[in-house]
Amino acid sequence: MFSFLLRPIIHLERGVGMKTIIVHGGTGSFKSDKDFDEHRRGVEEAVIHGYSTLEERNSSEEAVIAAVSKMEENPTFNCGRGSVLNYNGQIEMDAAIMDNNLNAGAVSGLKRVLHPIEVARAVMEQTDHVLLAGAELEEFVKVLEFPRDETLVVPHRFNQWKAELERIERGEKTRFGKSISLARKAQEYHSTCGAVAIDDHGRLVAGTSTGGMSMKSFGRVGDTPIIGAGTYADSFGAVSATGHGEKIMKLTLSRLVAFFMEQYPAQKSVDIALERARYFDCECGLIAIDRYGNIGIGHTSKDMSWAFIKDGHPPVVF
Ligand code: GLY
Repeated sequence: MFSFLLRPIIHLERGVGMKTIIVHGGTGSFKSDKDFDEHRRGVEEAVIHGYSTLEERNSSEEAVIAAVSKMEENPTFNCGRGSVLNYNGQIEMDAAIMDNNLNAGAVSGLKRVLHPIEVARAVMEQTDHVLLAGAELEEFVKVLEFPRDETLVVPHRFNQWKAELERIERGEKTRFGKSISLARKAQEYHSTCGAVAIDDHGRLVAGTSTGGMSMKSFGRVGDTPIIGAGTYADSFGAVSATGHGEKIMKLTLSRLVAFFMEQYPAQKSVDIALERARYFDCECGLIAIDRYGNIGIGHTSKDMSWAFIKDGHPPVVF
């Protein structure tokens, strides 16, 4: 009945040399030239690491994990070490991974683990579930003996949290954020990180990892671990999103791009989805690879950091 879904995979099995990886390091507006340079260096480093893994292992899953892990270790990015703090001054991270066979794993509200993307992969590979959160996630991390990391809070994020707390205390912003003007929101940089890749077997994988939004409520879940919102893959393509999670979720933006990739190449699919995002004033960015290895990159925000390597060519960096 669903045999039409197999068509792209059969096509891909005939494809050769289509190894491609794209990474993003978030969207918004860079705060300074230094911020710009650090993001540029960070995404370049991640894409090179991801691509060398793709060459060595010919596995899009390993490549995505390698690239995202690299960014989780880099305090520039809002994921892993360098994640933003919630209202209570804690780090709670979200991550997800998905492949073209609809295998998926995700975590939400993860604490004290350097590589949330690895925990998301463990959910995908070692459980019957898609998304783990709360006490059960804590138990899972313990049983699988993921190392605990007490060094995730970095000084610039702590200072950012303190400054935002002071703004709330001065009454310039409410705790739940409704009083933030759009102008103010546009100045923020959501440095969620993500990667999408395709290997020579045509296997497509998307992965995303984030600390979420700065000063978010304790327990807030963003778009990243919601399959179809911040992360999605199927036999037509793989997509990772960055930006304002609440709006991305309501638009199910990544799934929308995958849906358009049933008919159009990745870039056109990203462009159409972004038109819709713009209409709903959604500050966001997208990276996508379709089943033929075409790439799509775009954003509605002022800036976005991204990089890709296609078929062994030198990296292209934003
Ligand atoms: N896009 C990341 C978040 O809003 O959580």
